[in-house]
Amino acid sequence: MALNTLQQLLDEGVDGRHVLVRSDFNVPLDDEGNITDAGRIDASLPTLKALLEGGAKVIVMAHLGRPKGEVKPEFSLRPVAEALSERLGQFVALAGDVSGEDAHERANGLTEGEILLLENVRFDARETSKDDAERAAFAKELAALAADNGAFVSDGFGVVHRKQASVYDVARELPAYAGYLVEKEVETLSSVKDAPNHPYVVVLGGSKVSDKLGVIEALAEKADKVIIGGGMCYTFLAAQGHNVQKSLLQEDMVETCSQLIDRYGDKLVLPTDLAVAPEFDKNAEKKIVGLDGIPEGWMSLDIGPETAQAYAAAVKDSKTVFWNGPMGVFEFPAFADGTKAVAEAMIAATRENDSFTVVGGGDSAASVRTLGLDESGFSHISTGGGASLELIEGKNLPGVSVVSK
Ligand code: 3PG
Repeated sequence: MALNTLQQLLDEGVDGRHVLVRSDFNVPLDDEGNITDAGRIDASLPTLKALLEGGAKVIVMAHLGRPKGEVKPEFSLRPVAEALSERLGQFVALAGDVSGEDAHERANGLTEGEILLLENVRFDARETSKDDAERAAFAKELAALAADNGAFVSDGFGVVHRKQASVYDVARELPAYAGYLVEKEVETLSSVKDAPNHPYVVVLGGSKVSDKLGVIEALAEKADKVIIGGGMCYTFLAAQGHNVQKSLLQEDMVETCSQLIDRYGDKLVLPTDLAVAPEFDKNAEKKIVGLDGIPEGWMSLDIGPETAQAYAAAVKDSKTVFWNGPMGVFEFPAFADGTKAVAEAMIAATRENDSFTVVGGGDSAASVRTLGLDESGFSHISTGGGASLELIEGKNLPGVSVVSK
């Protein structure tokens, strides 16, 4: 499946044309509304700069969080508009609405090389509607902002797995192209999906087994090892018969985990020790215990050092690594060791073993930056969590197929 590329659009010429771009600016914010990891904003810049330099009148659509169709100030894209202005070195106006009067006036008023950010597209309930006609009506309103001779660029890789109006339906209203980010992500992740070098090691974390079930099954068929950590490993440990006490547990998935262990045997790699705490707190006391040693009422917040060492060794020996999901609560420094060990092993694998190492978006990408690791030590850091998993799993991505030939 070949993509319609941004280069094709630039070759056609964008000077004076309105170009509607879908970016993924769903960035983490602290309690004061400050952006704590601007990775996704940085990743959007090459496409935006190329369009602005080509003289386009750029209108960016994006979401923040899940405001569920209501206008909620805490989900406003204002902090993103400010961060984007700083990075582009030019003013980025924020429309007061999504596809209303203010957005139209501002879009009409743009001159060549100017950029406008629409308010959070999820302030309109039609963006995420399951009703095709509702989404299509919203997409028409968005496309109308690009006036005559407009174009659409899909560049929000983190959201291409969502069949939503600004991601999918709008591409059916205008000539549609994949931006540089989507092109790079699709190319890189497809090479891991289609032709990984072996040993191929997959490291999966995250809190819910149910979210990762499809990917575990798909990857266990292709990878040499599927290493499990993070919140979801406790459901597997419970399936092995261990008492995980107050650790995260999806009871309704214990039976499924037990079947996965039977089916895939040694290919599924699980922890052998744990870092536990009496409560979910940054300053909580920490103990290292064996799988049957969690004190009553305590919980595990990270894999233990023996496990971290084993996981790191497998990663260092690999020729391809795909990692999605932290190994523990890396936001608490005392429980970041497991995540750090995996990430550092990936850097060593890239540099010393010529391994192709991919960080699959979301929390794992944020953890690399939060832990102050050298981003250049990875072959690729994806901006998409769910999207990178779905691509690797072989699912159809609506936001990609709609810009493909
Ligand atoms: C993400 O943060 O993974 C993307 O922006 C998609 O967000 P969503 O899961 O709320 O659709």
